[in-house]
Amino acid sequence: MLNIKLNIKLNDPAAAAIVVGKNGTPEKPEGVPIFAWKGESVEEYWEYTAKALDFGDGKGPNCIVDDGGDATLLIHQGYLFEEKEIAPDPSKGKNREEKAIFTVLLEIYEKDPKYWHKIVDEVYGCSEETTTGVHRLEQMEKKKTLLFPAIDVNNSVTKSKFDNTYGCRHSLPDGIMRATDVMIGGKTVVIAGYGDVGKGCAEAMRGQGARVVVTEIDPICALQAAMDGFEVRKMNSLVKTADIFVTCTGCKKVVTIDHMRQMKDGAIVGNIGHFDHEIDMDGLYQDPDVVRENIKPQYDRFVFKDGHGVHVLAEGRLLNLGCATGHPSFVMSFSFSNQVLAQLMLVEQKGKLEKKVYNLPKHLDEKVARLHLGHLGIELEALTEEQSKYLEIPIEGPFKSENYRY
Ligand code: NAI
Repeated sequence: MLNIKLNIKLNDPAAAAIVVGKNGTPEKPEGVPIFAWKGESVEEYWEYTAKALDFGDGKGPNCIVDDGGDATLLIHQGYLFEEKEIAPDPSKGKNREEKAIFTVLLEIYEKDPKYWHKIVDEVYGCSEETTTGVHRLEQMEKKKTLLFPAIDVNNSVTKSKFDNTYGCRHSLPDGIMRATDVMIGGKTVVIAGYGDVGKGCAEAMRGQGARVVVTEIDPICALQAAMDGFEVRKMNSLVKTADIFVTCTGCKKVVTIDHMRQMKDGAIVGNIGHFDHEIDMDGLYQDPDVVRENIKPQYDRFVFKDGHGVHVLAEGRLLNLGCATGHPSFVMSFSFSNQVLAQLMLVEQKGKLEKKVYNLPKHLDEKVARLHLGHLGIELEALTEEQSKYLEIPIEGPFKSENYRY
């Protein structure tokens, strides 16, 4: 058992349950080591990420289940410093986050300048959960810096078209309501980004009776939003009038400090994309004229010099996780089924996969869906022999080609 950070008082019951295990007690845990607590600092976050990858005696994981790609990023960054034989220098970090990463890596480098090389030697591969993490992996694949095979779980239809869309459709209003208790009906809500997440978020807000306006950079998604009945506008033309702003782009500075300067008093600003830089939190923290007033945990009012304030959810981090409990387990079961299948693929195909980003085959995607039909009482038609021959589709599937868009 590795060093465990466990503090049940900090309201981390899920983490506590995993650490303690079925028959253990906090004093004598039997379960799985956890390195996290709700409310951890950026520095603690990266320290714990390194600890989670440290299995003792210079050993690490052989298979990595990642969400957002931070474990994979840390390994790659550490490996790169070792490759160049340069000790990481925290003072050279571009921001607080990079400084925290370099601090953790420096400590490791000073103890063993080949630590990450040994870890990488043992890694079969990783499977990545979310859009943002996959984006990072694809960039590494393009630059040929990817150190092991990776499986894009997000690209499974049973992941991105369910967790991202229906999961967020559930957990966005949950987060907003638990944090603010504000009436959503009648308000103008801006949804920035009309991808898989944005589609679920926009639908949820419309379901609450909000007037939903979408912002987009992609003409296809913009057109989809319009065809779904939403107005599509630029952020600049919305900042002064909208009541609630939700970012779901995976991009950065979608809501800037300048936008927030112009917002109405009491405007609510939240992010449901993966990282906390969709809203310019650094801009808020660094502006000496902006005063932070904590309303309650995970909900702050930032007051500008002219007296108006904006209400920021979960410090700009994923609001559905910070202000509520994330997606319900049923939809997460789709995602985690994909993760399990991806991990099995890494083990079964150990040594055969290249340093590339792979998708799960269609028949496994369909298998995940099939496993969840019973829970909803779904009756599925089956092709007859005649129909199967007519469509040239096997009775047992796969039913669609790889590029079918659903
Ligand atoms: P996506 O790629 O399907 O959609 C993002 C959309 O944002 C795209 O249509 C893109 O054109 C648009 N966009 C990018 N920059 C923009 C800008 N500056 N202004 C307006 N629109 C812009 O990605 P997806 O799957 O919707 O994921 C979005 C984010 O949500 C990612 O960071 C992902 O990791 C995260 N995510 C969060 C979940 C949660 O539980 N909170 C669940 C699943 C994904």
